[in-house]
Amino acid sequence: MDKLLIAGNGPLQGEVAVAGAKNAALPILCAGLLSDQPLQLSNVPRLWDVATACKLLGQMGVNVERPAFDQVIVEAAGLTTGTAPYELVRTMRASILVLGPLVARHGEAHVSLPGGCAIGARPVNLHLAGLESMGAQITLEGGFINARAARLRGAHIVFDTVTVTGTENLMMAATLADGQTVLENAAREPEVVDLAKCLRAMGARIVGEGTPTIRIEGVARLAAAHHRVLPDRIETATLLVAAAITRGCVRVTRTDPTLIDAVLVKLRQAGARISTGDDHVELDMRGRRPQAVSLHTLPYPGFPTDMQAQLMALDCIAEGVGTIRETIFENRFMHAVELQRLGAEIQVEGDTAVVTGQRRLTGAPLMASDLRASASLVLAALAAEGETLIDRIYHMDRGYENLEGKLAALGARIKRVAKPL
Ligand code: UD1
Repeated sequence: MDKLLIAGNGPLQGEVAVAGAKNAALPILCAGLLSDQPLQLSNVPRLWDVATACKLLGQMGVNVERPAFDQVIVEAAGLTTGTAPYELVRTMRASILVLGPLVARHGEAHVSLPGGCAIGARPVNLHLAGLESMGAQITLEGGFINARAARLRGAHIVFDTVTVTGTENLMMAATLADGQTVLENAAREPEVVDLAKCLRAMGARIVGEGTPTIRIEGVARLAAAHHRVLPDRIETATLLVAAAITRGCVRVTRTDPTLIDAVLVKLRQAGARISTGDDHVELDMRGRRPQAVSLHTLPYPGFPTDMQAQLMALDCIAEGVGTIRETIFENRFMHAVELQRLGAEIQVEGDTAVVTGQRRLTGAPLMASDLRASASLVLAALAAEGETLIDRIYHMDRGYENLEGKLAALGARIKRVAKPL
């Protein structure tokens, strides 16, 4: 199993380009199921979750091609089965995103229940309740969700909790339903907006994405389209924290700074000088130690839970005390115990972590527990003295495109080792 060996060696410097957003690419690939005509995508990131999504579609009889590094063509004319097997769903929870499109176009779906996850229970009850109110018949058997509908019908759905993939699943299903669907308390994440843009390019009738109320008027069929996936805001922000934690100066390009306002506020509070342009953002720490920041996670446009672990790493070496509250997932502090192995001082109580910044961290062997936790360990290791060896780095490979290569290009001493040293 691959590990990462990192030797902390001072400020990162230079320029780095981000890939397309994983969390937009995954639902958009599944949107390909809604049409029998090709969906041509560009700026698709090269990472394991995308490979898993392509495999999942492929085993349903969908033709998936990768004509160039960042391009994918999905063509679902030959869709043969609506089954998403446990072997694939358990490696990627976002596989649930095939459910809505399959019921809407294929009339039936047989999708393994995702089960628990390191960061929380993560149920899919809201996805299922929404499909039921659109007329789908749903049963659970043998660990599978079986859903069936001759044709879905429009419905008025109010989400109990803001759910990103729940909003996406029902928005996709509603594009082919009979009549109008209204989604209230919908997720406003930029990836939901990007999916709506792609669906509209395919001929869907959607208004209100990016607000809590999305209206979808169902159509009989969707057509061929091209779509460019929006930049990855979490990768962008992770690279900026890498610059901040090492007291460096980094320009992140091919991105959209307006997607990370909540993170930029915190990085400015930490003492970073930040300048932005249409497609880039530059962070300069001017060699200074960061100030501790406090935050609580919220649905967009609040501070993203997917950046909580990385900001905790920053607080570990900052001046002062930072209080971090996680309100989205109930168990998303697994990285805290690993950061403590580097010498960090963190008190976790319930949904709150209090981090007292230390002047120095020292390298140690660590274990990654989930995708964003793996990024926080990498960041802390960049700021630690000596060597850190991070195990279970496959979590990072699921969701970051070549993070170690990008950090190495900025001057980090980081390398992949294929077996234990
Ligand atoms: C998505 C993102 C993930 C991000 C998360 C929150 C993708 C592929 N993943 O995950 O990176 O961390 O949003 O921004 O886009 N919930 C229910 N019932 C449901 C659905 C959700 O109770 O049916 C709860 C969850 O347990 C959680 C909260 O709602 O506490 C938000 O989860 P949700 O937005 O659904 O997360 P994902 O869409 O799985």
